[in-house]
Amino acid sequence: MKDLTLDNMTDAVINSIAGTQDQRLKDVLTIVIRKMHEAAIEAKITHAEWEGLMNFLMATGDISDAQRNEFILLSDLTGLTSLIDLLGSANAPEASERSVLGPFYVPNAPMLEPGGDLIKDNDGDRVIALGQVRSTTGEAIPGALLEFWQNAANGLYSNVDPSQDDNNLRCRMMSADDGSYSLSTIRPIAYEVPDDGPGGDYMRATGRHCWRPAHLHVRVHAEGYEDLVTEVFNTLDKYIEEDATFGVRSTLAIPFNRKPSPDEQARFSHVAAPFRMVDFDFVLQPLG
Ligand code: BEZ
Ligand code: FE
Repeated sequence: MKDLTLDNMTDAVINSIAGTQDQRLKDVLTIVIRKMHEAAIEAKITHAEWEGLMNFLMATGDISDAQRNEFILLSDLTGLTSLIDLLGSANAPEASERSVLGPFYVPNAPMLEPGGDLIKDNDGDRVIALGQVRSTTGEAIPGALLEFWQNAANGLYSNVDPSQDDNNLRCRMMSADDGSYSLSTIRPIAYEVPDDGPGGDYMRATGRHCWRPAHLHVRVHAEGYEDLVTEVFNTLDKYIEEDATFGVRSTLAIPFNRKPSPDEQARFSHVAAPFRMVDFDFVLQPLG
């Protein structure tokens, strides 16, 4: 009988998965097992510490349900989600960068015509977001499906705030023939990610705050292109350098306060003045 020791345990576990049929699964598991064992050995993890981690994971499962996935929140707060986004963006360097989806996306929001209004009876500073969807090869992409969602003046998203109408500050929109889109909305504001579960415990234990800088979430889908999930950030926000979820990229950050030109004031005269402009183009990577 061969004794398992600190020196041969990792290889024994990796050998035990030799029968894994799926080669990609086998490769990933091999790396994860090796790194997990290395981390335990390097940090000299005690049994009590291991038990603490198991309880933490148990609490993460306990608080999760169909509406709330605390595992994804932990992935966001530890930068894993953003790392995966960066890996995806590295494969499409000419395309708009990706950023976290977050827990507040709701599918099938109402369709809005280009130029439509999301403000309705929301308080807040009025802005018009506008730009173009185009390919990394330069041509406009008409008929792309854009989905927008953001928080309201109280910092909350409609799906977690009973005081808001369903689908408040959410819409889907088709880009126009020239790939353009535009909508009037309110300027999103900074807010704190949910901190009443293990995600919050992690942030408190590590001396971090839970704030995210103001941002507009966007998802873009067009036939023949890779889907894009991203966010557009307001550089004027005080938390722009310290997003709790590491989602900010300089290519995704602009000041949400450009003054409208006289032409734009006329074009958007149906929006009560004053309003500011937020310009952002979405560049998609062709498939294949
Ligand atoms: C959000 O931007 O909505 C979000 C992203 C990650 C965690 C929590 C919230
Ligand atoms: Fe958000």
